[in-house]
Amino acid sequence: MHVIVGGGIVGLTIAWHLARQGKPVTVVDPAPASGASHAAAGMLAPVSEVTYTEEPLLRLGAASLRRWPDFAAELAQETGAGLDYRAEGTLDVAFGADDLAALDELAAFMDKLGLPVERLTGRECRRLEPMLAPSVRGGLLAPGDAWVDPRRVTRALLAALERRRVPLVLARATELLRDAEKVHGVRLAPVGPERREPYDLEAEQVVLAAGAWSGELFDVPVRPVKGQIMRLRSREPLLSRTVRGSVHGSPVYLVPRGDGELVVGATQEELGFDRRVTAGGLYEVLRDARELVPGITELELGDVVAGLRPGTPDNLPIIGPSGVGGLELATGHHRGGVLLAPLTAAILQGEESELAALCAPGRFA
Ligand code: GLY
Repeated sequence: MHVIVGGGIVGLTIAWHLARQGKPVTVVDPAPASGASHAAAGMLAPVSEVTYTEEPLLRLGAASLRRWPDFAAELAQETGAGLDYRAEGTLDVAFGADDLAALDELAAFMDKLGLPVERLTGRECRRLEPMLAPSVRGGLLAPGDAWVDPRRVTRALLAALERRRVPLVLARATELLRDAEKVHGVRLAPVGPERREPYDLEAEQVVLAAGAWSGELFDVPVRPVKGQIMRLRSREPLLSRTVRGSVHGSPVYLVPRGDGELVVGATQEELGFDRRVTAGGLYEVLRDARELVPGITELELGDVVAGLRPGTPDNLPIIGPSGVGGLELATGHHRGGVLLAPLTAAILQGEESELAALCAPGRFA
């Protein structure tokens, strides 16, 4: 049996892939789908999420984006759930001469990689998105970028697993069970009312997909990178596509949902396992977002959360055999867990060997 430690979007996707192949699998998490996946905006935006220094990450993201339409369609078909998957692209906007020059450089790089992008004037940007600030001087449209509602996706994955009778154990994995040769299970501390004593769960294969908490179980260079993010609500959608930009050097994005929700984020803070929502964090996000789209101050405040991204030293995920028998890693997805979930499951199944090499855990040995 496979035991997946971590019930975020990555762990649940892996479990669903295994279950569809008829393989026995169990998911372990004290609070499934409540971590970074719950905070995430859901951008499937390899082109606009990376800088031109991050070509390997871009290749991973582009490959996973190609998998998303089928992944979303199959999950929706199996569960009947709407995922709010949309593919109207991202508009990356600029205010100053420096920002415009950076966009030109990025456009040239994307061209070289054969990724379609379009340079737009300020006026063209406002024609696409009339709520943009008059001070926007230009932009870069990545028409192939998409986005999805990660909360709907994790709900659908949980429903799909339930239908396939995949056990979901509400417990914290406190230790990997190891003998001289391999990992053979996990020790669990249940969190539910019914079973309080720690117990051991045996497994042929453990997959560590515990996001920012992965380092608590195995020596893996993952650290928490805090992101504060808010959801605003309006009757009519304010934007028709994802808009992002850099305001005085600090990046901000606005992701619209079909029901009028607008997700605005996010801070990037290196504060350890701190999940407090702070006045300063929210101020920073709102201040920058208002520069791009002044009308957001009229919207109703929905929720505000802080999630912990699992960051790695090279910003690339850590996917594949751990070097210890019986243990695979699927962690370190940093800003890209939602985007990279389908590719992660494929890599663990032995597909995409060239891309798998970029994520191999052994690179930090
Ligand atoms: N992918 C966006 C973020 O991590 O904030």
